[in-house]
Amino acid sequence: MTLDPSPLGPASISLAGRVAIVTGAAVGIGRATALALARFGADVAVCDRDVENLDELAGEIEGLGRQVVAAGLDVRDADGVAGFLATARDRLGHVDVLVNNAGGGFRAGFLDVSEKGQRSLVDENFTSVTHFVRGVVPLMAAKGGSIITITSIEAHRAGPDFAVYSAMKAACMSLTKSLALELGPRMIRVNCIAPDVIPTPGIGTGLGIHTPLARAGHADDIAGAVVFLASDSLSGFVTGTTIHVDGGNLAAGGWRRLDDGTYTT
Ligand SMILES: NC(=O)c1ccc[n+]([C@@H]2O[C@H](COP(=O)([O-])OP(=O)(O)OC[C@H]3O[C@@H](n4cnc5c(N)ncnc54)[C@H](O)[C@@H]3O)[C@@H](O)[C@H]2O)c1
Repeated sequence: MTLDPSPLGPASISLAGRVAIVTGAAVGIGRATALALARFGADVAVCDRDVENLDELAGEIEGLGRQVVAAGLDVRDADGVAGFLATARDRLGHVDVLVNNAGGGFRAGFLDVSEKGQRSLVDENFTSVTHFVRGVVPLMAAKGGSIITITSIEAHRAGPDFAVYSAMKAACMSLTKSLALELGPRMIRVNCIAPDVIPTPGIGTGLGIHTPLARAGHADDIAGAVVFLASDSLSGFVTGTTIHVDGGNLAAGGWRRLDDGTYTT
């Protein structure tokens, strides 16, 4: 593949003619991401187990003049994922971008997590990603594509009372690095975005703001990084890495910003 000969400029950001899949798109980061990809020109296939909010999102994407495929689906269900991808292929033809966003956890000490609870955490946060990657890669054109997995700051630090969730996010990060190497020769880029403190229905809205960047996060902060990684023009040489969209929290480590702008540990 050679570089696009047109000079880098505003038109480089257009995703017109691209097809993107976003999992867990009914609310929160997934919703903001699906809408942003559509606004930048992509046709979008979305899935979620929250059918009511997903249908509303599908209407909004159609209102933007984009094609949309929406499916009520639990991403832990391998057959359901295969059926959704077959429909996306039939309706949209191919896939350029996969955003593995569906995920989540529940607060519980490691010793209190049942076998069933652990299976659910592993399936939702890790195995579902493997289902989507295996299903989508054959649908990507010869020019390649972009696979983006939403991990977490917890993939990069401890997660007390979220130990299995954190471990699965770290597993996604590791998988991303290996896949970047395996899929690089096919020009498929594979990256993660690691959020923290983005107000959503899942994480809540009453988050204390102690980030080095002294404002609340927003789901569009993640969507912006997704658009960057989706664009071959903007991020065509970026693979196997993680973009941290966390207001500086990972860099802060144990440091916490006080109201006067100084820090304490
Ligand atoms: N919000 C944050 O600050 C934050 C921080 C770290 C990581 N993340 C990650 O970002 C992603 C999105 O988080 P969010 O805050 O928008 O969450 P959210 O709970 O607000 O939204 C998640 C969406 O995914 C869907 N979903 C979850 N499990 C599913 C399943 N098994 N099958 C189908 N749909 C499913 C939900 O129905 C919901 O629509 C998750 O992977 C989460 O772990 C978010």
